[in-house]
Amino acid sequence: MAKSFQASRQWERISELWVTEEAAADLTGFKSDRRNFNLALWDPTTNGVRYLRALVYELATRLGDEDWARIGKIHNRDVGDPVTVRHEGRTVCLDYLQAALELGFIEREVNLDGARILEIGAGYGRTCHAMLSNYDIASYCIIDLKNTLSLSRAYLRAVLDDKQFARLKFVQVDDIGTALGQDRFDLCVNVHSFTEMTPDTVTAYLRLIDERCGAFFVKNPVGKYRDKAMDGHTKGEEAVRLALANGPLRQVLDIHDSQAVAAAVPAFLEAYRPGAGWTCAADTRGVPWSYFWQAVYTRTGADRP
Ligand SMILES: C[S@@+](CC[C@H](N)C(=O)[O-])C[C@H]1O[C@@H](n2cnc3c(N)ncnc32)[C@H](O)[C@@H]1O
Repeated sequence: MAKSFQASRQWERISELWVTEEAAADLTGFKSDRRNFNLALWDPTTNGVRYLRALVYELATRLGDEDWARIGKIHNRDVGDPVTVRHEGRTVCLDYLQAALELGFIEREVNLDGARILEIGAGYGRTCHAMLSNYDIASYCIIDLKNTLSLSRAYLRAVLDDKQFARLKFVQVDDIGTALGQDRFDLCVNVHSFTEMTPDTVTAYLRLIDERCGAFFVKNPVGKYRDKAMDGHTKGEEAVRLALANGPLRQVLDIHDSQAVAAAVPAFLEAYRPGAGWTCAADTRGVPWSYFWQAVYTRTGADRP
């Protein structure tokens, strides 16, 4: 009878290897090492996809009808095989979940129907895809580095229809001086990329925004972190050194301390203001990240184009 209460082979193995007889001898660090990682579900050293999907799933449970409506209008989101979850019969990945939240934030401040958009540093083009799928965008210009621009051109060609794709313009950074001509834009978008450019480059882009744009949406970190436990510095120490040197906000902070993040927000709002004639119309945290902030700036009355 007693046999039925015995450890399974699974737990025999855990007891041999990790929750051993010696496990209780010294409690130092046990909640963050293999002892607890075999008791809890959340071993952070091996569960990347589990955490990503858990995060997306939890966020999906919190989306409102308007967020789901925005996501539902974006077709071909499965191109490129994203990591998705399914909630109430609807699938979503973190990129487009964030895009839906970003659009909801922007559209409260800026009328996007008929708008001419400029995006600086578009990645593969998720924001462009989301905007063109949800609003009657007049034109969408992407400024980016050569290789990333090739990726966004190929991706957007695959996911957009001919009419939408015809509204796009792709500009390599080397061609900005000539390719933009006299173009003016109702909104400039920068998500998670000014933080990866040199401070001088960011200053030059903010000047360009000041000269050519009517509104500016920015979502970027409020500062930097050094905690190696976060990512194991897997891209190498060189990557860490470069990351710390880039962006206008290079102050190191505890990015998971809400008060430290709140204290960094005024500097964020000042650093990304394109010029004297601009005010911040709205700002809030860039969900889900504890240390990302987002803001929409508009020109003050007399300065409107
Ligand atoms: C981390 S990705 C963010 C992509 C996208 N905004 C998103 O949130 O999914 C950074 C982007 O900035 C671009 N980038 C880096 N340096 C740049 C520069 N000097 N000028 C324009 N784009 C740049 C990269 O090519 C990439 O598209």
